Amino acid sequence: MTALFIPSDAPFSTDQRAWLSGFLAGVQSRLFVTAGAADAASSSAPSVHILYGSQTGNAEGVAEDAADAARAQGLAPIVSSLDDMDIEKLTTVQRLLVVTSTYGEGEMPDNAELFWEALSAEGAPRIEQCEFAVLALGDTGYDGFCQAGKMIDTRLEQLGARRLTARIDCDVDYEDPAAAWVAEVIPMFAAETGADAAPAPAAAKPKRARSQWNRKNPYSSTVAVNRCLSKTGSAKEIRHYEFALADSGLEYEAGDALGVMPINDPALVDSVISQLGVDPESAVAGQDRSLRELLAYNFEIRTPSHELIAEVEKRVANDELSHLLRHGDKEALDAWLWGKDVLDLLQLDPSLRFEVDEFTGLLRPLQHRAYSISSSSKADPSTVHLTVASVRHSGGGRERGGVASTFLADRVAEGGTAGIFVSPNKSFRVPGDDSAPMIMVGPGTGVAPFRAFLQERKARGASGKNWLFFGDQHRASDYIYEEELTQFSDDGVLHRLDLAFSRDQAEKVYVQTRMAEQGKDLYSWLEEGGHFYVCGDASRMAKDVDTALHKVIEVHGAMSAEAAGEYVSNLKREKRYLRDVY
Ligand SMILES: Cc1cc2nc3c(=O)[nH]c(=O)nc-3n(C[C@H](O)[C@H](O)[C@H](O)COP(=O)(O)OP(=O)(O)OC[C@H]3O[C@@H](n4cnc5c(N)ncnc54)[C@H](O)[C@@H]3O)c2cc1C
Ligand SMILES: NC(=O)c1ccc[n+]([C@@H]2O[C@H](COP(=O)([O-])OP(=O)(O)OC[C@H]3O[C@@H](n4cnc5c(N)ncnc54)[C@H](OP(=O)(O)O)[C@@H]3O)[C@@H](O)[C@H]2O)c1
Ligand SMILES: Cc1cc2nc3c(=O)[nH]c(=O)nc-3n(C[C@H](O)[C@H](O)[C@H](O)COP(=O)(O)O)c2cc1C
Repeated sequence: MTALFIPSDAPFSTDQRAWLSGFLAGVQSRLFVTAGAADAASSSAPSVHILYGSQTGNAEGVAEDAADAARAQGLAPIVSSLDDMDIEKLTTVQRLLVVTSTYGEGEMPDNAELFWEALSAEGAPRIEQCEFAVLALGDTGYDGFCQAGKMIDTRLEQLGARRLTARIDCDVDYEDPAAAWVAEVIPMFAAETGADAAPAPAAAKPKRARSQWNRKNPYSSTVAVNRCLSKTGSAKEIRHYEFALADSGLEYEAGDALGVMPINDPALVDSVISQLGVDPESAVAGQDRSLRELLAYNFEIRTPSHELIAEVEKRVANDELSHLLRHGDKEALDAWLWGKDVLDLLQLDPSLRFEVDEFTGLLRPLQHRAYSISSSSKADPSTVHLTVASVRHSGGGRERGGVASTFLADRVAEGGTAGIFVSPNKSFRVPGDDSAPMIMVGPGTGVAPFRAFLQERKARGASGKNWLFFGDQHRASDYIYEEELTQFSDDGVLHRLDLAFSRDQAEKVYVQTRMAEQGKDLYSWLEEGGHFYVCGDASRMAKDVDTALHKVIEVHGAMSAEAAGEYVSNLKREKRYLRDVY
């Protein structure tokens, strides 16, 4: 077994470091287990509730780490999503840890929405018996950094709960600060309760062992297939990718996402270096790579950081940028920045110069991009598939491309390699009950996980009915996976397929148009226990589909708008309304 290494620059005190080493060694030596009610029920150890709000698994992973640490300290962890915690039950909880990410524009992740609704309500109960600590995950690239965690933290205090320790807000490199937080809070609870440091019994239900492949250590996979799905005449370029898993041991389930570690466009790297007027081979303080390598592999040069934008504004005389930054008009600033990269900012004033170290200090680390997996490992365990829209546009006399989507499209030919890892999305799964109906709404690349779901249900021989709403701009050029969907229909796997091609007629026709037309049947599928899934664009489509769903229930269930709202909340509580939207 490889020894776990805590970097010397990790932000731990000596005590935390010693405790963490012991904890990691303990964790490493046993299978990770799913925590849950079983932990507390089977033990007389003091309980600690660990609640997570998580869309792509990061917060859930930290919650599981905290549960392992709690168990090792003789506590009995009870882990669940925030939405699984009844607000009335919170009045009996004595020790509470909350780990949550933030989504949308400073909003709760999907599995924390109902909890937040109840917690923030005027009539929310007092919870003075409770001691709590909050860890917030986020990304400083978004406005409303860690907003969900901040709101929960404030509200718990307002309701009378006592904060055990100050909230920690983590940026994209959350692993070390999260581990430090776990190392701080768990012993505090354990010390208070006088818990017996002999580990509490582990929960019985085994879960998938954590993969060795992650964002810091991606698996270098061979791209076996890189094929364009969009046909001639399409305004889009949607591509199908198949990554070979070979002997990686990498496992995934339909509904998971795949992280892809991109490499920046070398032409953009060279242009940035030439604009800076520095030697590409320049050394950078504290780094063992040259400037050119760092700009290719380590730093985001496509989307400028807030820090770089602010520094450039100070140094160049650009009235427009100064006006936008000083007047705090976020929408206007976003519109101005839309499509602009680091080179555009440097070119605002060709005489602008930075020292190499100063410049790299203003860049954010290059991050992986997530993609919904479009295959089921039950259909083919040797590969994992993606369905990716290449981001391309032009401006300022240059052709521009999204980092990861064009890295895959242009710079990884079939036979080439790309760094990948699985990002589990445990809540986005086909129904556990194979006989339950499944309704999927996935226009554009939003169809990706539903291709996986159909493969999964076919492989399981699931008897439940399946219904897909799909669409894009034109049937002739944008009906991706047409042959496969027809085959699913012919095989009796896809029972209903409603198509909405938005630009084939004068009036726009969207997936929600079809939902309304088929409202009667849609409602009856829900009444039969159907699960409703949405994937794709979050900013417009998912909101409109949600409105359409409420309307269908209102009309065909003969309900008031309030009752339809309650019906939808129940679907969420029962995990029958699940979304994978971004
Ligand atoms: C969990 C999850 C699952 C996802 N699944 C999928 C999927 O299955 N398929 C898929 O295709 N995507 C999916 N996405 C989106 C994906 O992660 C990337 O965001 C997307 O591919 C763009 O990444 P990029 O690196 O190519 O572009 P980036 O380098 O991130 O560039 C994006 C930026 O380009 C600029 N831009 C984009 N279009 C234009 C334009 N027309 N004009 C001017 N500027 C523009 C904007 O500034 C935008 O912010 C998913 C996202 C998440 C979080
Ligand atoms: N897993 C994911 O979460 C995921 C997957 C894929 C894509 N994405 C993101 O979603 C975005 C779009 O991706 P895409 O190119 O595949 O598809 P898209 O732009 O969403 O387009 C697909 C279809 O949806 C239509 N549409 C536009 N507005 C709509 C609305 N309000 N309601 C319903 N349908 C609407 C489009 O019509 P018109 O163009 O004619 O208006 C088009 O016919 C991107 O930002 C991408 O990053 C996320
Ligand atoms: C579409 C999208 C929107 C996001 N919005 C925010 C945001 O408004 N504020 C923030 O701090 N982080 C935001 N994030 C970052 C996530 O909170 C962060 O990646 C977190 O680690 C995800 O954790 P999870 O996997 O547990 O959901 C966003 C991420 C995505 C993909």
